[in-house]
Amino acid sequence: MSSSRSSLIFEPGTIYCGDCKDVLAQFPEECVDLIYIDPPFHSGRSYEVLWGDVQEVRAFEDRWGDVQRYLDYMKPRVLQLYRVLKRTGSFYYHCDWHAGHYIKVMLDEIFGINQFLCEIAWKRTFAHSSANRPGINHDTILFYSKTGDFTWNKVYQPYSPDYVETFFVHSDPDGRRWQRVDLTGAGTGKGPSSKPWRSIDVAAKGRHWAYSHKELNRLDRDGKIHWPKKKGGMPRLKQYLDEMPGVPLQSVWSDIRPIHNLAQERLGYPTQKPLPLLERIIKASSNPGDVVLDGFCGCGTAIVAAEKLERRWIGVDFSPTACRVMAERTERDCGMVEHPITGKIDKNQKYYKLANMPMDEATLKQMPPFEFQNWAVLQLGKVLRSPAHVTRTFVNDKGIDGKIYLVDNVELIHKGKETLFGEKTPYIPVQVKQKAKVDRLDIDPFETALRRDRRSAGFFIGFDFTRGALNEIQRVRREGGLRIYPFRVYNLIRDEFVSDLPIWRELGE
Ligand SMILES: C[S@@+](CC[C@H](N)C(=O)[O-])C[C@H]1O[C@@H](n2cnc3c(N)ncnc32)[C@H](O)[C@@H]1O
Repeated sequence: MSSSRSSLIFEPGTIYCGDCKDVLAQFPEECVDLIYIDPPFHSGRSYEVLWGDVQEVRAFEDRWGDVQRYLDYMKPRVLQLYRVLKRTGSFYYHCDWHAGHYIKVMLDEIFGINQFLCEIAWKRTFAHSSANRPGINHDTILFYSKTGDFTWNKVYQPYSPDYVETFFVHSDPDGRRWQRVDLTGAGTGKGPSSKPWRSIDVAAKGRHWAYSHKELNRLDRDGKIHWPKKKGGMPRLKQYLDEMPGVPLQSVWSDIRPIHNLAQERLGYPTQKPLPLLERIIKASSNPGDVVLDGFCGCGTAIVAAEKLERRWIGVDFSPTACRVMAERTERDCGMVEHPITGKIDKNQKYYKLANMPMDEATLKQMPPFEFQNWAVLQLGKVLRSPAHVTRTFVNDKGIDGKIYLVDNVELIHKGKETLFGEKTPYIPVQVKQKAKVDRLDIDPFETALRRDRRSAGFFIGFDFTRGALNEIQRVRREGGLRIYPFRVYNLIRDEFVSDLPIWRELGE
């Protein structure tokens, strides 16, 4: 996709469609506080099960045959990311064992070896069976800062059940678990902390009280000091499990579960990462109001996490489908709406922008077929102001590429009235062709598909239609009472509503 389509403005709250190298090249230097990327890496994995369709598999496939080609692809992109990162910024690169070590060498070169902070191992699956070696069940996240001056907020992980069992062995009658902790520290001094408390002379044991006498009295009053039965035994602090923040963040993350098949969060995007993973990174390495950037944003996990944590964000992806999924997700999960180009702005409403979406016929003609099909169906939904769904079963798609659920029809059907386009059910099937001109032979399979689906109307999207195709559409209507409505891409791009379309007048609508 070309980036020369329009010039881009750096504006947080925007989803940019395009190669991150080209998009970022138009941003100013040092404008972003935190970057997380999860590019499709050299993993040798093929994502057969995605949305159950062959073309989508192709679109998501890892496309680099060898590590060197992958690094050659990534290096100019990481250089751009480095350029836009503030001097106080942090950078996380999500990858796995296939290329992680090569990526680290590349990042050491770009950021400087001393700016490498940590390699995080995220336990991605419970178990991965492997015939001849340990199952590899973690991803690697490489963490760098641009300089020594960067944000690091303390984040805690929950204690493991093992840890709790081993250390929090005591409990109160109400079940609250606690562990015994020393009230003293090593060494003595001349200050009050070395003076006896309740006749216990800690200085004589070469130690001092870790709390002032006043604090010790308060702790005792609150029942937080454990007095041993044995005479002369040292009192100890009762440290309650439910008052502990957890373990300070460590480099092995096994407490964030992958997105399982039935998770509510799951969008069907093959490489979608869990929200808590991104939340942890964002909480640790940024503050509210900071700008978080994901240059390979997929279905937008990073931007949803950023929005929820009151950070500003930028999402970039070169797939228009991914950008649309992101847009829908920000609407559904964050209550945002697309910023209107003109018209009134509601101060109480949160807006996002969608920039650089492919909108000219030449670009659309060159899009991968699946991307084009997605664009066409969703754009028709937009034109008709109705929800649109792309059919996911492309293998033997039986002539239907998508469905438009006409919002108005639902009400009209409910009231027993004549519906838009004369359809008796709320949805209307869509067929899409990316060729220059739809011809007569393209109409027949759609007619068959509509009859099989017991529809009385269907939408057909193409760049143009031959006279033969239009005659065929008229014949189908005359002879079988089946209405096929043709849409030209040209009109969809301009968001032009159906009733004024010249092509429809030709059909006598
Ligand atoms: C592994 S997915 C990201 C998944 C994401 N972390 C999530 O949780 O949804 C990688 C994404 O990078 C996008 N991509 C690949 N190359 C790109 C490039 N050069 N510029 C922008 N996006 C790119 C792909 O379209 C894909 O959506």
